Amino acid sequence: QIEGDLAVDQTFLTEQQIADRLAEMAAEIRRDYEGQDLLLVGVLKGAVMVMADLARALDRDVEMDWMAVSSYGSGTTSSGVVRILKDLDADLTGRHVLIVEDIIDSGLTLSWLTSNLRSRKPASVEICALLRKPDALQMAVDVRYVGFDIPNAFVVGYGLDYDERYRNLRQIATLAPHVYS
Ligand code: PRP
Ligand code: MN
Ligand code: MG
Repeated sequence: QIEGDLAVDQTFLTEQQIADRLAEMAAEIRRDYEGQDLLLVGVLKGAVMVMADLARALDRDVEMDWMAVSSYGSGTTSSGVVRILKDLDADLTGRHVLIVEDIIDSGLTLSWLTSNLRSRKPASVEICALLRKPDALQMAVDVRYVGFDIPNAFVVGYGLDYDERYRNLRQIATLAPHVYS
């Protein structure tokens, strides 16, 4: 899919690099939640790939639930406005919740989401994000598990989209600036 598509200019993380890092994160999570019930909350749509691969790499019993929030339009920058498009099915009371995200960009989505979920009386709320852009952060977010800190470039693939495209790339690639500038 990448070949012949001028919009995607460089592989940033290969499928193997992503899988290796997720295996390390899964091992850490498995240790930290040993003997405890664990509810993974995936944030649609970007977290779909991370959720599917992390949940399997965990090799233990977990529950998976999904939330859809909207903070971006079709552009490349955050508006800071968060709306719930689909709420969780699960009741969080007394549960250990681990939010699963593909990327923390400005931090607005997750800072809003963690405080929203914390108000539902869970036993704990932690965050697992595959990518984080330290240079783009506008809101401090306390992330327990981070895959990679990356520069402030526009990346797509492995769940990450540009205008709903490229989510199904196996790797994570940078988007050529001419596409969005
Ligand atoms: C992207 C990404 C994160 C969020 C991070 O989702 O998947 O959820 O933005 O940005 P922030 O830290 O600046 O809030 P998006 O809103 O594009 O929806 P999507 O997951 O459906 O692509
Ligand atoms: Mn998202
Ligand atoms: Mg998006």
